[in-house]
Amino acid sequence: MALSNNNISNHSIISLFLVFFFFGCSNASSSTINVVSFGARPDGMWDSTLPFLRAWSWACKSIEETTIYVPKGSFLLKQITLWGPCKKKITFRMDGTLVAPLDYWSLGNSGYWILFMKVNGISIYGGTLNARGASYWDCRRAAKNCPPGARSISFSWSNGVVVSGLTSLNSQTIHIAVDHCENVRIENVKIRAPSRSPNTDGINVQFSRGVTITYATIMTGDDCISINQGSSHLWIDHIACGPGHGISIGSLGNYVREEGVENVTVTSSTFTKSENGVRIKSLAQPSNGYTKGIQFRNLIMKNVYNPIIIDQRYCPKPTSCPRQNSGVKISGVRYEDIKGTSASEVAINLDCSASNPCWGIILRDIKLRYVKGSATSSCRNAAGTASGVVIPRSCLSN
Ligand SMILES: *[C@@H]1O[C@H](CO)[C@@H](O)[C@H](O)[C@H]1NC(C)=O
Repeated sequence: MALSNNNISNHSIISLFLVFFFFGCSNASSSTINVVSFGARPDGMWDSTLPFLRAWSWACKSIEETTIYVPKGSFLLKQITLWGPCKKKITFRMDGTLVAPLDYWSLGNSGYWILFMKVNGISIYGGTLNARGASYWDCRRAAKNCPPGARSISFSWSNGVVVSGLTSLNSQTIHIAVDHCENVRIENVKIRAPSRSPNTDGINVQFSRGVTITYATIMTGDDCISINQGSSHLWIDHIACGPGHGISIGSLGNYVREEGVENVTVTSSTFTKSENGVRIKSLAQPSNGYTKGIQFRNLIMKNVYNPIIIDQRYCPKPTSCPRQNSGVKISGVRYEDIKGTSASEVAINLDCSASNPCWGIILRDIKLRYVKGSATSSCRNAAGTASGVVIPRSCLSN
């Protein structure tokens, strides 16, 4: 008996050693590579696209988790698609800036500048992207023959994405795009483009689930955050938005058949001189789209033109929706603890579809003042309940 007990405890000691050995190993089995050793140059002139692709390919094949380090300096990148799936997680740690070619045609036709495609487990820490979009916007404003434009950084069909501490400047179009992804965390990002730059959305989410966006400062020419069809389980907090067009669900109803938007919370955020605060918009045309389970709460509006708005008569090209109603169904939208100032008289504007009225709208503890007098609310086809102090007074029907 004594002997076999000894044997057992010897075994356990050996197993313990083995466990420590393997844990020790797997901790040690991550490596860092530097893009400069793959031929990238931090001078802003040398085309570093191929070196970045080589570093990616190395990391993607590696059986260890890899950190790709981008040192200080400026790296010129043309359109680049970083394909997965990869064997292990990959992290970009960036002290440097990635710059796009000055000629906007270089990226303009691809729709994307930096695209992560089918990558599971990708993190990006730090760094700056400068898409140098100014000449592209000039082209757009002059209504010349312009390419469709490129998003700065996009994640498509990817799961387990972290973007932390990234700065994005002057995108041609959308700064950060999340499409067909799950489990995405975007935190501490800074987004900057002039208030008059066309269609420069800050963060755009579509066909994605489980996206959290926290502590972002977004000053741009279009929506700070836009949430489009097929998105659910989004959590958004501590956003400083403005200038920009606010946080927008939609536009929805772009297609006759489309997926809905569900379970979105926007909280603890501030809007400063933005065109909208929180907006839901859909095109005035037939669609089976919907949005429900939306919460907007604990928000501060500072001189915002439309602090609370539902616009179901949105029609960017008037010829495309002649006297039609939006088919998009809006229900279960809660506005709670929203305070501050409106730059227009109508601080609450709920303009819903005549064929699909909004229902289950909740207004609770709203205090919005018009900067030049008393604010009003306006409702069309909007039903729901108000509680607590609601200023301007609720116009919802029961
Ligand atoms: C809504 O989304 C949040 C994430 O933002 C998630 O934690 C929660 O479980 C979701 N609720 C439902 C009812 O699915």
